[in-house]
Amino acid sequence: MASPLSTISSPNYSIHIGDSSIELLSPFLKKNRFSKIFILVDENSLQHCLPQLVARVKKLSEAEIIELESGEKNKTIEVCTNVWRALGELGADRNSLLINLGGGVISDMGGFIASTFKRGIAFINIPTTLLAQIDASIGGKTGIDLDGLKNEIGVFTNPKELFIFTGFLRSLPRREMLSGFAEALKHGLIADVAYWEKLKSVNIADDVSWDEIILDSIHIKSEIVAADPFEAGRRKALNFGHTVGHALESFFLEGGEATLLHGEAVAAGMICEAWISNQLAGLQENELDDITHTLLQLYGSINVNMISDHRLIELMRHDKKNENGIIYFTLLDAIGKPVINKKVTAADIIEALNYYRTVSQQAMKS
Ligand SMILES: NC(=O)c1ccc[n+]([C@@H]2O[C@H](COP(=O)([O-])OP(=O)(O)OC[C@H]3O[C@@H](n4cnc5c(N)ncnc54)[C@H](O)[C@@H]3O)[C@@H](O)[C@H]2O)c1
Ligand SMILES: [Zn+2]
Repeated sequence: MASPLSTISSPNYSIHIGDSSIELLSPFLKKNRFSKIFILVDENSLQHCLPQLVARVKKLSEAEIIELESGEKNKTIEVCTNVWRALGELGADRNSLLINLGGGVISDMGGFIASTFKRGIAFINIPTTLLAQIDASIGGKTGIDLDGLKNEIGVFTNPKELFIFTGFLRSLPRREMLSGFAEALKHGLIADVAYWEKLKSVNIADDVSWDEIILDSIHIKSEIVAADPFEAGRRKALNFGHTVGHALESFFLEGGEATLLHGEAVAAGMICEAWISNQLAGLQENELDDITHTLLQLYGSINVNMISDHRLIELMRHDKKNENGIIYFTLLDAIGKPVINKKVTAADIIEALNYYRTVSQQAMKS
């Protein structure tokens, strides 16, 4: 069944969702009269999404394509330099448009590239992964990793417009779908217990109404971002699961062999941070069990034997929520009720990691 078109107006731009969202691109391009159009892709969005996009928006057949190699390990300043250079060589000027067609790596990096090239050119996001449609392409955070530290360099900047077409998800591997689903689960945990309950009954292998889920998630995220765009306070709620999650992601990036997807890292991070919430905030034992059980069932457990607690805590010290060397967490007082700026000691973090090890070993045995 074709999904109807919905438009959400955030303070700075509009988000269009639905089967015909892409068709709105033609009038947008006509109205703005960009001097030149560039499309940033990786090999997967090039293969699976670009042909559909160009077939539906004829004007884009004239666009220059800039292709990057996929993966978090390429979210670096070196890759940005290559793109800035390519833009220059291909004749981009300040009236050009960059279209970010891809997952969160493309929208994070493309937004950063566009907002710094010649002091800033226009960009739009056409996210092609569940993670990017639900979360990464919205909210204005863009950037890159530095020496494996997640999103260490970046700027707050907004796309001119956002076009979400869930048809692109048809080619997305199941593991990537699950990775994106973790951010939706996080939205439920920090903002809406009814949404959390609803998501628990979703089987991503079924014929899921993704437009509906994406809309629910975007409403939650954009309401929080509108209230606190630069993360002075309330927006920190969106970081639940990410203090431990980002450290795990960096740890795996350093290791180089096994890949850990962003949502997988956040899912493990949410289990650890739910345990800390039970110790240091109001999260009840039965809610902790519910979160742990749900996430372990969906994500299994990551290989905990190789994880060095010491290195993880070192990585957490770089978290952008910290001040004066103290590690601050976003915790839960209850499902749907986040509490920000909670000081957590290294000893608490180690105990949380031990909790994760214990429950994942139990889950593997059962
Ligand atoms: N800016 C934010 O607010 C924010 C929020 C959450 C996450 N993030 C960032 O987003 C990134 C993760 O995003 P992601 O999971 O989309 O990663 P990604 O961009 O690496 O995409 C995941 C994989 O899917 C492939 N792919 C993309 N679209 C496809 C399609 N339609 N069909 C088949 N394959 C496709 C990609 O090539 C890649 O291999 C991380 O860097 C994370 O830090 C940013
Ligand atoms: Zn995230």
